[in-house]
Amino acid sequence: MTCLYRCGDACSHDAPNTSSNETFADVMAQVASRRGVLRAGAVIGAATAATAAFAGPVAAAPVSLPAAQGGPASTTVKKGPFGLRFRPVAPNTADALTVPEGYTQDVVIRWGDPLFKDSPRWSPTTQSGAAQRRQFGFNNDFLALLPLARGTQLLVANHEYTTEEMMYPGYDPANPTKEQVETSWAAHGLSVVTVQETRSGSLKPVVGHRLNRRFHTQSRFVLTGPVAGHALVRTKADPKGRTVLGTLNNCSGGTTPWGTWLTAEENFNQYFANAAQVSDPTTAQRLARYGVSGNATTRQWEKFDERFDLTVEPNEVNRFGWIVEIDPYDPTSTPRKRTALGRFKHEAAQPRITKDGRVAVYMGDDERFDYLYKFVSRDKVKKGTSRAAKRHNDTLLDHGTLYVARLTGDSPSAQIDGSGTLPKDGEFDGSGAWIPLVSGDRSFVQGFTAEEVLLFTRLAADQVGATKMDRPEDVEPSPVSGKVYVALTNNSNRGASGKAGPDEANPRKANKNGHVLELTERRNDSASTRFEWNLLLVCGDPSDPSTYFGGYDKSQVSPISCPDNVAFDRHGNLWISTDGNALGSNDGLFGVAVEGRDRGLTRQFLTVPFGAETCGPVVQRKRVLVCVQHPGEKDGATADAPASHWPDGGTSLPRPAIALVRRKDGGDIGA
Ligand code: FEO
Ligand code: CA
Ligand code: CA
Repeated sequence: MTCLYRCGDACSHDAPNTSSNETFADVMAQVASRRGVLRAGAVIGAATAATAAFAGPVAAAPVSLPAAQGGPASTTVKKGPFGLRFRPVAPNTADALTVPEGYTQDVVIRWGDPLFKDSPRWSPTTQSGAAQRRQFGFNNDFLALLPLARGTQLLVANHEYTTEEMMYPGYDPANPTKEQVETSWAAHGLSVVTVQETRSGSLKPVVGHRLNRRFHTQSRFVLTGPVAGHALVRTKADPKGRTVLGTLNNCSGGTTPWGTWLTAEENFNQYFANAAQVSDPTTAQRLARYGVSGNATTRQWEKFDERFDLTVEPNEVNRFGWIVEIDPYDPTSTPRKRTALGRFKHEAAQPRITKDGRVAVYMGDDERFDYLYKFVSRDKVKKGTSRAAKRHNDTLLDHGTLYVARLTGDSPSAQIDGSGTLPKDGEFDGSGAWIPLVSGDRSFVQGFTAEEVLLFTRLAADQVGATKMDRPEDVEPSPVSGKVYVALTNNSNRGASGKAGPDEANPRKANKNGHVLELTERRNDSASTRFEWNLLLVCGDPSDPSTYFGGYDKSQVSPISCPDNVAFDRHGNLWISTDGNALGSNDGLFGVAVEGRDRGLTRQFLTVPFGAETCGPVVQRKRVLVCVQHPGEKDGATADAPASHWPDGGTSLPRPAIALVRRKDGGDIGA
């Protein structure tokens, strides 16, 4: 059910990257072969490895868990780096948010809660578009807390998608009603909510605060940057190609040093109907590369608004798939879709300032065999909060250079056999380059104008030898070290027949549990086009020999599967939330040490309720917040027969919500 509603069943379709786009190793092998210098032994070694039957990860036999995995109490809780000194939560399948001993939890806000004085009270049977536009939306994903006046913070959250069968009692998927569709339009989008710090250390929404806002599928957004006004973004309703209604499938995001919020439009493809009837071959190829396919959509919005029908409005689809910038401190501001950052299934966008004062934004394209990107602005960030600084910084993401990553391993390809066995040098590592795709109005890709590179970024990146990755999700530079971390969720098709095989950066065939990549850019400068890389984690059950935890003792780490959203705490520890645990446990949140002798130490901080995904982690000094997305979402679950009752209990419908965890004694997290 998650697959159907969240990603438009992406994994049941063929991965849309069918480009021949060879790996750098392939290209080098051909060059070497042409030069006649490739040794026969190396070729045979590589071929044998490539065709060796993959036995899959070793199944974890049920064992009594060591302390680090939530087993019997031990003293290890007092050891380890600051921020990670908590007794790990054991894997489980409870319909509950499970937190470490000594910690307690609250729900900050949930689907349907009021944002405004006139917000109607939510109930499963009185849902409407009008009500939902005044209430907190469905399926919260990205979360940030921005500073406000003492004692308050500004909470911003994405509402990625709707699961109609779990929202509306009596829902008939073949015949959604107008009211249900309008409610879903309003349940998508974004929320801005002021929250008040309570005496206990929790956070409570301030209903009716002047900064509270809801953005949804009918809200006004403007296109800015090189593609704004282009013929391919003009529609009947917007002949100038500059104003779009709505944002869709906003997954993760980021926050900028100048106080704005970036939100990423991800699986927008699933909302557009009748791609199968598009006959123009160029248009059809472009749609296919983005996974826009078939006839009627699952939610059938095209029945109620023809802009979702490609045969009526062919360009509306080109107005989604962007990074959107919002100024949550200005309640009158109109959000910008920043076309200079390219169009793909954007997972997230996290900035870092370059050594010369410009801004780099790191971004993943979450699809099997898709790419990792970076944008670097042309102009420098202006410090301060003056109107002039604000006006200037509002243009930063409209001018710059967009790059895609190529990663090259430093071990012979014969040593990357797809099993996860480390190569002889003891690490999956190597070097890499950021390949420029477009800079201002200059395209670096043959056959593409600058605007076409930005509109059809995936197709442009196919041309330049970008590295096909195992679903790049969140990307986060460490505010302590400057190293950049990339969560690669999984890729069941790695090494499958006709698909790209393992390489050193994506070393496991049928990668079910994902991995975490660490990039160190040259001179520690985000403007650099060269970097070194290594895999910090190769995820899974630590008893599975294909896993790697930064070289740390695997008997002392928690099992982790399918890393998704990442964040840092104030100590420089990486926190990883998971989506789609393939080890039989609910998803969770983990803290990982990345530096020093504890590098690779991984401890599970919480598990989310049954059927849920952990999103948007925020780790503050005294509180940890997670977005609990799609609790109870499993095949066959409906609003009439829910599979979870979190957070309200009893026989209630499950409600996506933001949960807060703090220490019972009021102390610092993990200290
Ligand atoms: Fe919406 Fe890629 O997770
Ligand atoms: Ca290596
Ligand atoms: Ca995600």
